[in-house]
Amino acid sequence: MPHRKELKVKIVDHPLVQHKLTLMRRREESTSKFRQLMREISLLLAYEVTRDLPLSTHEIDTPLAAMEAPVLAGKKLCFVSVLRAGNGLLDGMLDLLPSARVGHVGLYRDPETLVAVEYYYKVPQDIGDRLVIVVDPMLATANSAIAAVQRLKQSGAKRLKFVCLLAAPEGVRAFNGAHPDVELYTAAVDERLDEHGYIVPGLGDAGDRIYGTK
Ligand code: PRP
Ligand code: URA
Repeated sequence: MPHRKELKVKIVDHPLVQHKLTLMRRREESTSKFRQLMREISLLLAYEVTRDLPLSTHEIDTPLAAMEAPVLAGKKLCFVSVLRAGNGLLDGMLDLLPSARVGHVGLYRDPETLVAVEYYYKVPQDIGDRLVIVVDPMLATANSAIAAVQRLKQSGAKRLKFVCLLAAPEGVRAFNGAHPDVELYTAAVDERLDEHGYIVPGLGDAGDRIYGTK
């Protein structure tokens, strides 16, 4: 395995993120607690991924004086959720950026081949004019992430970031190779993938844990 230094990924190492991730990894955590933690952690990830949004100024009146005050510049950004687990991150991010536009890419991983299969796709028409932040908690082989970003680029998306909660080194390497222009954010890069393409030690199947389907 190549040295981790070769992986191009921004690790969100804030203590609150790390603590909440540890709670989520625990086998015994309930569905409701897991979902709540995912929502809380998504706010912190959104804070980090939007750190470099451009600002302009706007004249306002405070109760005491007029001032030029900073406001977000340009068109509203667009979140894209990779269904279905991506919705676990999307909800909290929308709390923080309620005016954002939202796209959905429905993908599932074929359990035998681990190839990503698309079943739904809907994004804003003017996606090419917006910063696009793609969200999916898990980056394992990265087949899903690579396919989602490829599809978004075909729709005209030019400025993209990808946010996950957990990644495998194999997935980060594959994603960096396929989309070197897309900044990748995660809370942790785990040890490896197992023979079924699951992240180890990981947290299990994110979709099943969010929605209680297993
Ligand atoms: C999970 C996860 C990612 C994908 C990651 O989704 O949410 O989309 O697997 O694996 P990869 O990096 O190897 O492609 P899954 O296919 O289980 O679908 P779900 O979200 O509907 O549960
Ligand atoms: N998808 C998940 O939900 N978990 C993994 O570990 C790998 C893919």
